[in-house]
This record gives sequence, structure tokens and C-alpha cells, in this order.
Amino acid sequence: MLSLPSEVTIKEVGPRDGLQNEPAEILTEDKIAWIDLLSEAGYSYLEFSSFVHPKWIPQLKDAKEVAQRIKRNKDVTYAALVPNMKGLEAALATDVDEVSIFMSASDAHNRKNINKSIEETYPVLEEVVREAKSAGKSVRGYVSTVFGCPYEGDVPIQQVIDVSKRLLDMGIDELSLGDTIGVANPKQVWETLGRLEAELSFQHLAMHFHNTRGMALANILASLQRGITTFDASLGGLGGCPYAKGASGNVATDDLVHMLHQMGISTGIDEKKLEQAGTFIQEKLDKPLPSHHMQLTRNERR
Ligand code: HMG
Ligand code: MG
Repeated sequence: MLSLPSEVTIKEVGPRDGLQNEPAEILTEDKIAWIDLLSEAGYSYLEFSSFVHPKWIPQLKDAKEVAQRIKRNKDVTYAALVPNMKGLEAALATDVDEVSIFMSASDAHNRKNINKSIEETYPVLEEVVREAKSAGKSVRGYVSTVFGCPYEGDVPIQQVIDVSKRLLDMGIDELSLGDTIGVANPKQVWETLGRLEAELSFQHLAMHFHNTRGMALANILASLQRGITTFDASLGGLGGCPYAKGASGNVATDDLVHMLHQMGISTGIDEKKLEQAGTFIQEKLDKPLPSHHMQLTRNERR
């Protein structure tokens, strides 16, 4: 018998994880209009951009302007990625609700992504968490390459436990475990979560699946079975990690919402409004979005 929750929280990461990997330049005003549509679609959480180096991620160089010009819905938490104190200071100047720190469970990906070893990253993030907290902000912590690394291959689970523990000890409010390159399978997800739950104590745990091999929904079902009720997703399946070659988009929000609603699990998200927001960004990107839902919508219009 499936044991399922009655409610799931979906954290929309499309404006950040989605757009950071898109070659097309999206105008700032179009990003703002898109985020404004998302803000009215019933989400409680939107990750709208990153305060990272514009040379590394040029697509998100307008994070400050986006933060200042979006219409904030009081029911939505607006979050942004910050890699260090410079990023945090920029984020705080725009009065974000939450900041997300990030690092990898594998050293090679960590170096490619943020130019530091795992050991060198800890003191940087410790300071970020301390300062963010003293500014009254909540902090989310991402661990990437939890189920496999594009440079090192298999990642020993002990490394995932060690990095997660260090982030939790810093005082993060939520941990999000990333299948950065979409290599996880449901059995591995089930076993990994069992091990982590046995060894760590969590306040809040979220899963962040990329859909590179079409496994993300199956991995979410395995996570639901372990009691996880928070998932990151990207509308239309946009996205990827620029420092993980071949990584494709996150699990598509529209496909995930459909699956959950069909199973009687509520998300608070309005499917019609989601579709409008998906169609809007698809037009701006000028390319078909990969989610099944967007494919169906395109076929219906023909
Ligand atoms: P670095 O070059 O090592 O930085 O980059 P540095 O501290 O040596 O400083 C060099 C220059 O960068 C200095 O400027 C700094 O001021 C500037 P200069 O004095 O030479 O003119 N600088 C910055 N500028 C703007 N914003 C900043 C910032 N920090 C320093 N925050 C750094 C280190 C972390 C900045 C760089 O590697 C970087 O920006 N990386 C971004 C990587 C990224 O965004 N990756 C994608 C997101 S992670 C992801 O997608 C995975 C996830 O989705 C989960 C999953 O799927 O697994 C979350
Ligand atoms: Mg990601």
C-alpha cells in the first residue's frame, strides 16, 4: 500500500535553476513579468535569482533589478542563491526573504561550481549563515551531486552525510538534496534517505531532482514514501547546472503538480495559471519546453 501525504510543498526554482542554463537572453522586464505570473499561481516559495559572479552566470546578472521590481505577494517566500559574503550583502540590500547557500558532496564539482575545495567552502558558508541569521533571514542549504558527480562518478554516501551535517550544524533551516545530473533511481533514493534519516536530525528536508534520464517523478514517488513533502521543481522542465555537463532541467513543476493532484495530494497551485506562466516563458525563450504538459498544450493548439 502506498502511504502518501495529503499535501506537498513545491518550491519553484525555474527563474534561477531554469534560466541560469538557458543560452537565450531573457530581458529583465520579461523575467519580472514571468515571476509576477508565478507569484499569482499559488506557490508559497519562489527562488527568483542568484547573487553570483556575472562572469560565471551571466544569465542572472540582473538579480538586483529583478528583486527590486517584482511584485511581492505576501504569501510567497522569495529566495535567492548566495555563494559568499559578497552575494549575501547584495541579496540583503534587496531585502530577500530567504537566502540559499550551496555546495557539493563531491570535491571536483564543488571546485568547478564555486572555485573552492569542500574544506575551503565551510568557513565561507559559516559566515554567510551567521550573518544572514543576524539579519533575520532564513537560510536554505543545497547539497549537489548527492547521487552522482559528472567528474567523480559515484559519490560515497558518507560524503553526503558529512557535508549535510556540516551545513545543518551551521544552523540552516532546510536542507535540499540535489540530484544535479539526474542519475538517481528510486531504489537509491529510498536507501539514501533511509541512511540520512538514521544518521542526521532534520528540521526540514527537500529533494531537488533533475530529469536528465526521465527518472525524476519516480524518484519523487520514492521520496514521498520516505515521508518527504517538499520538492524543488522548474516550470516546463527548464534548467540545468552550467557546471555539470549534460545536466538537463529540473523535474517539471507542471508534470509534478499534475501527478500529485491526480493522486489527491494538494499543492495549492492553480494548474491553469501555471499553464499561462509556462506558455509565457516558452514564448520568450522561443523554444519548446520539455515537460509533458507543455508538449500536450502545444499539440492541442495545433
Ligand atoms: P571566485 O572567482 O573564486 O571569487 O568565484 P573570488 O572570491 O576569488 O573573487 C573574484 C572576483 O569575483 C572579485 O572581483 C569578487 O569581488 C567577485 P574583482 O575584485 O576581481 O573585480 N565576486 C563576486 N561578484 C559578484 N557576486 C558574488 C561575488 N563573489 C566574488 N557573489 C564564486 C567564486 C562563488 C563567486 C563563483 O565561482 C561563482 O559565482 N559561482 C557561481 C556558480 C553557480 O551559480 N552555479 C550554479 C548554481 S548551483 C546549482 O545549480 C546546483 C543546485 O541547483 C542544486 C543541484 O542541482 O544540485 C543549487
Ligand atoms: Mg539544480
